Amino acid sequence: MAKEKYLVTSALPYANGDLHIGHIAGAYLPADIFVRFQKLLGNDVIYICGTDEHGAPISIKAEQENVPPRKIVDKYHKRIKSAFDGLDIQFENFSGTDRKVHYKLSQNFFSDLNKNGFIQTHTNEQLYCENCNRFLPDRYVEGECPFCHSEGARGDQCDSCGKLIDAIQLTNPLCITCRSTPIIRETTNWFLNLPKFSDKLQKWIESKTEWKDNVKKFILNWLKSGLKERAITRDLNWGIPVPTENTDGKVLYVWFEAPIGYISSTIEWSEKIGKPEKWRDYWFDKNTKLIHFIGKDNIPFHTIIWPAMLMGQDKKYILPDDVPANEYLNLEKNKISTSKNYAVWINEYLEEFSEIPLRYYLAANAPENKDTDFVWKEFQEKYNTDLANTFGNFVNRVLKFSDKHFEHTIPLPQKISNKNEEILTNISDIREKIKQLYQTFKVRKACKMIIDLARFGNQYFDNTIPWKTIKTDRKSTAEMMFICGEIIRNLAIVIYPIIPSSSKKLWKMLGFDKSILKYGWNGLSAKSDKPIIIQNIETLFEKIPDDLIERQVNKLKNLNNIPQKTSGKKIISFETFQKLDLRIAKIIAAEKVKKADKLLKLQISIGSITKQIIAGIAKNYSPKELIGKNILILNNLEPAIIKGEKSEAMLLAVVDGENLSLLIPEKEIPEGSKVL
Ligand code: 2FM
Ligand code: ZN
Repeated sequence: MAKEKYLVTSALPYANGDLHIGHIAGAYLPADIFVRFQKLLGNDVIYICGTDEHGAPISIKAEQENVPPRKIVDKYHKRIKSAFDGLDIQFENFSGTDRKVHYKLSQNFFSDLNKNGFIQTHTNEQLYCENCNRFLPDRYVEGECPFCHSEGARGDQCDSCGKLIDAIQLTNPLCITCRSTPIIRETTNWFLNLPKFSDKLQKWIESKTEWKDNVKKFILNWLKSGLKERAITRDLNWGIPVPTENTDGKVLYVWFEAPIGYISSTIEWSEKIGKPEKWRDYWFDKNTKLIHFIGKDNIPFHTIIWPAMLMGQDKKYILPDDVPANEYLNLEKNKISTSKNYAVWINEYLEEFSEIPLRYYLAANAPENKDTDFVWKEFQEKYNTDLANTFGNFVNRVLKFSDKHFEHTIPLPQKISNKNEEILTNISDIREKIKQLYQTFKVRKACKMIIDLARFGNQYFDNTIPWKTIKTDRKSTAEMMFICGEIIRNLAIVIYPIIPSSSKKLWKMLGFDKSILKYGWNGLSAKSDKPIIIQNIETLFEKIPDDLIERQVNKLKNLNNIPQKTSGKKIISFETFQKLDLRIAKIIAAEKVKKADKLLKLQISIGSITKQIIAGIAKNYSPKELIGKNILILNNLEPAIIKGEKSEAMLLAVVDGENLSLLIPEKEIPEGSKVL
């Protein structure tokens, strides 16, 4: 059979932060699994990636840390690569978009599109910070979201409602660098004329009947609402210069050039392996299937803008064959948040665990069709139950038993009963199904079928009671061992894409002379024709102990600012916080409020003024013990009438069930002092 050819990519991670489990579950592990599966089938496949090294977030970080952007990029490129290595995610090439080969190609892309009439300039209004003397690209501004009115929306997107925003639409915008209010100024930018590609894109997408529903739905909606021209340059000094006139102070928009990184990284790979023209065999051969693995936030770029960019080139590049975008992974019921450090960071994870449980759990719990949740306790249970107790235990008991009773082998039987022939046929049916699942990106189901097969193996072992039959019927026991051996041989191969290191370890125990990749998936179709010579039997999967998991759970619990999954509205900006007039006040008089057993009426002095407040603290404090105390109050709260009494401020306290404690400054501090 002719080899199939695949070019697989994963979204280029930004080189301004570390990788966490969400990234891995969304784009990198699914791709690595697919690539390993194709290699097992003997297909021609390369896996291409690299870091996304331009864009405002990187230059902002560089400014904040007062270092050149290149320094940030180098640091994170290394950290990201080592996280991938630790997880056994293997690329043919891992490049970066701040390299020469990428500059050249990106500029060519722009020039071709320009020459072919797909680029226009437009002068439009943009936010400009007079204090910093520059235009503010979207990420450099924040303000109130024009749609949901939450504070702290970025100039490109609101994290609360998820809507895309044009920075100029923000209410009360602020420059994030100096926090002054920007003005509006005109600037000229270069735009990609997407509407010109509408018909071609529509036809192309309609031909993609096999694509995942979530992806197709998203794109067809986009097309229906009409494509608009998109700015592909930015007023920024970190990035790739725009290769045309009058473009001082402008660079190519990071989202324009990043996907071109898939090609430049392939070129770099060709050069590295000493076949500088080899990349053409992939990018210009229509038999190559180009598969982009991404998270759902990247769908429009990979299915509309990027294909349009490819369509507008002189050279006939192939278009994406599939874009299996994944949904999101949450963490212990909350949204993962890099800015709040609410995540499981890969580099930290690898200090405590091997890659195996994470690869397995993220595969078995992959957010393929809906968001899924990473729960530490489940991570432990899933691994301990499926791999240690079911898979590992089956392998262990079979190998140990056969090793002991059949001279360190899994024997070949003299004949195979009809019932056992049926089992062998079943195994090969299951194998075919697993193959289909891998081929169509359904790894969750593949995991389940694999563990079901191991579970079946255990039951078979239990039901055939070899420890008894060995005493009376050696022949039929040999036959049973052979069936178990066939199950194990199959398991070792079908689990390979998910946990390659365990699969190789098992392969070694089975003593095959060919490597697992050489043997490959197709090697499974023939029955074993010689006994398996069992090598050193080792434990395949060590159980994860409770205390290790408890430590991880506590780490998360100790974060004091866990982001909420749905309501980003709880996040307020510094400006909003500053509106609170928090002060220290002295209680000068206190008495009970009539007919209200929970309320006390307090007279407080805040520097030169006195106020009355009604507070629900009568169950916890007596009037007498309060007098003279310095407490914390919110001074500028709207006055209210409570039980007929005026309340002109609010005291602050911590509450834990019935328990209540006033907040009292730890040192002597004059009343009226402002809380900052
Ligand atoms: O969302 C991201 O992390 C982007 N850096 C992905 C870029 S994908 C591709 F286009 F390079
Ligand atoms: Zn500024």
